[in-house]
Amino acid sequence: MKILYISKYDPTPWQRKIEKILPEADFLLWPDEAPDNLGEIDYVLTWKPEPGVLALFPNLKAIFNMGAGVDALLQDKSLPQNVPIVRLVDPLLTSGMVEYVVHWVLHFHRQFHIYGAMQKKREWKEFPPPFTAKRAIGFLGIGELGYASAQALQNLGFKNIAGWSRNKKQLPGIESFSGLGELETFLNRTEILITLLPLTNETEKIINAKTISLLPTGACIINPGRGGLVNDDDLIAALKGGKIASAALDVFSPEPLDEQSPYWEMENVFVTPHIASLTVAGSAASVTAEMIKKIEAGGEPENTVDLSSGY
Ligand code: GLV
Repeated sequence: MKILYISKYDPTPWQRKIEKILPEADFLLWPDEAPDNLGEIDYVLTWKPEPGVLALFPNLKAIFNMGAGVDALLQDKSLPQNVPIVRLVDPLLTSGMVEYVVHWVLHFHRQFHIYGAMQKKREWKEFPPPFTAKRAIGFLGIGELGYASAQALQNLGFKNIAGWSRNKKQLPGIESFSGLGELETFLNRTEILITLLPLTNETEKIINAKTISLLPTGACIINPGRGGLVNDDDLIAALKGGKIASAALDVFSPEPLDEQSPYWEMENVFVTPHIASLTVAGSAASVTAEMIKKIEAGGEPENTVDLSSGY
């Protein structure tokens, strides 16, 4: 079996883990170690490949995306339509996201953004303590990463959590909203909004002047999803005008964030360089190798992408 690695990231930890779990596999690096006959390649592991590359392998059994989001991959117009594409669902990727989300929810819930601004003005004043069980948390996108984060918040005593997604979901203790028809009600009730939707034609710039106006004044936004979900001019205006009290932004369009972007200097914005949850190679490689083992044994790949919905 031949596995081809197409990524600019260091292949060493991937190779080590995959050769351990699949000793019979040839782990090859693109382009230097590719065989003359590209039809011999069974699996590709990739992150942001050059458009057109994935069409070169006629006999693929699956393509493994080395991250959770497949938006970059799906932009490739020549992507094979009949090869399963597997998204990375990995316990360490999930726990990284849970930490990021819990950190910022607690930050905004406990009003540290307000106390932080007060410190700069040497202001000493207390506000009534917020009521954890009532704080309205809303996940715009509640898949693998959103739901794990919501569960961690439930364990901390948050009881007023909602999720919005394309289709209704049954998740214990979480109020489910779905479709554009229920977006307004979802936003109206959300004080701390976490955007974890996949980036598709439908979700592009879903955070804009209109949707922001539907949030309560003083709401906070946490975006560890994709920069393209946000209309930046609209969010910047809302942050300046006070409609949105504060935002924690990890992702931008384009990345790296432009040096001229106002976000860098805004006192109520927290910028991080797309680190909310980084793929941990060893762990991700184990998950991938186990999935290959399952497919080789005749099983179906899991966490596959639906090309028609774009995630
Ligand atoms: C990172 O952004 C990922 O999609 O895993």
